[in-house]
Amino acid sequence: MTGLFDSHKRRIDYIRVSVTDRCNLKCSYCSDGSVPHLPRPEILSYEEIQQVVQAAAALGIRSVRLTGGEPLLRPNISHLVGLLSDIEGIDDISLTTNGTLLGRYAARLAGAGLRRVNVSLDTLKADRFQAISGSDRLAEVIGGITLAQSVGLQPVKINMVVLGGTNDDEILNLARMSLDPGWHVRFIEYMPLNEPAVDSSQWISVAEMMKRIERTLGKLEPGKVATGAGPARYYRLPGARGTLGFISPMTDCFCSECNRLRLTANGRLRPCLVADDEVDLKGPIRNGAGFEELKRLIAQAADRKPKRHNLTKRQNNSKRPMRQIGG
Ligand code: 5AD
Repeated sequence: MTGLFDSHKRRIDYIRVSVTDRCNLKCSYCSDGSVPHLPRPEILSYEEIQQVVQAAAALGIRSVRLTGGEPLLRPNISHLVGLLSDIEGIDDISLTTNGTLLGRYAARLAGAGLRRVNVSLDTLKADRFQAISGSDRLAEVIGGITLAQSVGLQPVKINMVVLGGTNDDEILNLARMSLDPGWHVRFIEYMPLNEPAVDSSQWISVAEMMKRIERTLGKLEPGKVATGAGPARYYRLPGARGTLGFISPMTDCFCSECNRLRLTANGRLRPCLVADDEVDLKGPIRNGAGFEELKRLIAQAADRKPKRHNLTKRQNNSKRPMRQIGG
């Protein structure tokens, strides 16, 4: 077997790279203010990220996703996209963003070799956007989505983290966006990481989300989205151009299909989103580790991937908040 496999025989061909732990939104469920920002010198440079991805590609990694924090806050991020798209073996580069700066950078990113974007968007209401994120930039996000589509960053996928009493009354409205203008919308079960656990009245399962959609908008037909092999299960409303995806980390864990490693902004390779085990790459890189040594460390991280996550609904599950890991 060629390629990179973990000890549970899963093929690992995907790396998510957090380029910053900073974000220009302060979404209540994602930004634990008590965890300080990383000092600048701790953050990997673009050349260091390039070294990691080169070694990962030599092992069998094929896709890279840039994430954060908010990755578009990192100056000249399209330069990094260009560096990564020149690496032999890397054939898919994508980005997860809150969308606020997408309008400004979409064309440049596409020109540098970015293929597609996922945009986090929990509400279509301006006042609620403000309440959730502390910012009034909803219109910029919507504009960014439209622009990303028009410069060919396709498919754009919209991620909605559903919380009862916060935005669950908008499940239907977001689902309708798959009819017109044809968005691909994904509904995500909330995971308590470093964020506060939510009580059971707030927490909503994918099964419940699907039930509510089907009750009003019609039967969900199994469907497939063009690109990406992520954890979502895809459906379509009758006659819809866009798809509806459902991501159920809590009620139906997809760990058996996990294909990824995560590089944190400060150069730690995480075998699993929600386990605090990490392999340090920054130290070795700055101490002159060569290509083969990096490959060895990356393979070691893959080997340490747990069989499945140990997330529970009621506890704080991780030392790091999502913005430090890159969701
Ligand atoms: N639970 C589930 N999803 C989360 N995200 C951020 N924090 C959480 C959480 N605690 C989502 C973001 C983003 C995606 C990468 O992860 O909305 O779209």
